[in-house]
Amino acid sequence: MPRVSELFFKTAIVFLILGIAAGLQMAISGDHGAFPAHAHINLLGWVTSAIFGGYYALNPAKAERRIAMIHYGLYTVGLVIMLPALYWMLAAGHPEIEPVVA
Ligand code: HEM
Ligand code: HEM
Repeated sequence: MPRVSELFFKTAIVFLILGIAAGLQMAISGDHGAFPAHAHINLLGWVTSAIFGGYYALNPAKAERRIAMIHYGLYTVGLVIMLPALYWMLAAGHPEIEPVVA
């Protein structure tokens, strides 16, 4: 499997664990206020990263190109900034952090 696919899949698993943790936190506490953050940790972090990983595994020639690693780096850094900020904004009630999410 190409290195970029491996990186996308490993990152996806980390976001799946975090997304499930956020889902369980909501389910256990009964406070569903952070559900859009939970949804996007799972949908952008787990689902979309895994789809990118699958795409590069099916297209090894594309995976060899430098832009594939740039894609991985930019996308993942974006998520690492956006998703915790979104979670913090919704779960802890900090609307002032919205520009970071944006
Ligand atoms: C053990 C794992 C999970 C738990 C305990 C959990 C729990 C929850 C809870 C409590 C809500 C709020 C429901 C509401 O108030 O309407 C929710 C919403 C949501 N979850 Fe999860 N979830 C889990 C895994 C996942 C996964 C893996 C995905 C996606 C791949 C996902 C996607 C969503 C989405 C999209 C919503 C928003 C649904 C809506 O628009 O009403 N969840 N989840
Ligand atoms: C950076 C990319 C994205 C942005 C900025 C974004 C933004 C949003 C916004 C503003 C909402 C409305 C939230 C609310 O009313 O509280 C929303 C809802 C939703 N989005 Fe996204 N979205 C993105 C990517 C995605 C992707 C990739 C998926 C699916 C694979 C997705 C699935 C959903 C779903 C299922 C909902 C309804 C559940 C919820 O409100 O959380 N989004 N999104």
